[in-house]
Amino acid sequence: MAGRFTFAMIKPDAVSGGKTGQILAHTEAAGFTIRAIRQLRLARVEAEAFYAVHRERPFYGELVEFMSSGPVVALALEGDAAVGAWRDAIGATDPAKAAEGTIRKLYAESMGKNAVHGSDSDENAAREIAFFFPERELASLGVTLPA
Ligand code: RTP
Ligand code: MG
Repeated sequence: MAGRFTFAMIKPDAVSGGKTGQILAHTEAAGFTIRAIRQLRLARVEAEAFYAVHRERPFYGELVEFMSSGPVVALALEGDAAVGAWRDAIGATDPAKAAEGTIRKLYAESMGKNAVHGSDSDENAAREIAFFFPERELASLGVTLPA
């Protein structure tokens, strides 16, 4: 059964572009509850670890460089079948191919600077939420991840 939580991130392009408020409003209007939120800047090694699954891909260096280039906003979101629902809300990786009304269609510039991240599985959602938020805080915020 699909889980109720996903990890989302507003990427450096959208934070520095002043889109945080609009993206958060869009997120809530789409039916997600923001359970945890934090603005921070990733160190290069943290961006490398976060996207480690892509380390053999040709775009990895550019991706790590970009993700550590400025502040991001990390979010733990709750909603029905949250992982898939959030990926539907953000749209395709390439904003040129994203459906009308999706966050990437509205706020992203390019394949690299694509405004937001979404987990791709329940397992990765749990891993990514734990990467950004202290476990002891999550329970009191209503985030319950599978062990
Ligand atoms: P994300 O993980 O950031 O939510 O994006 P995604 O699932 O839609 O795409 P993914 O395949 O996980 O790729 C991670 C990020 O790497 C950049 N990318 N560039 N040049 C390329 O072919 C390419 N492919 C991916 C994108 O910025 C993508 O969001
Ligand atoms: Mg991905």
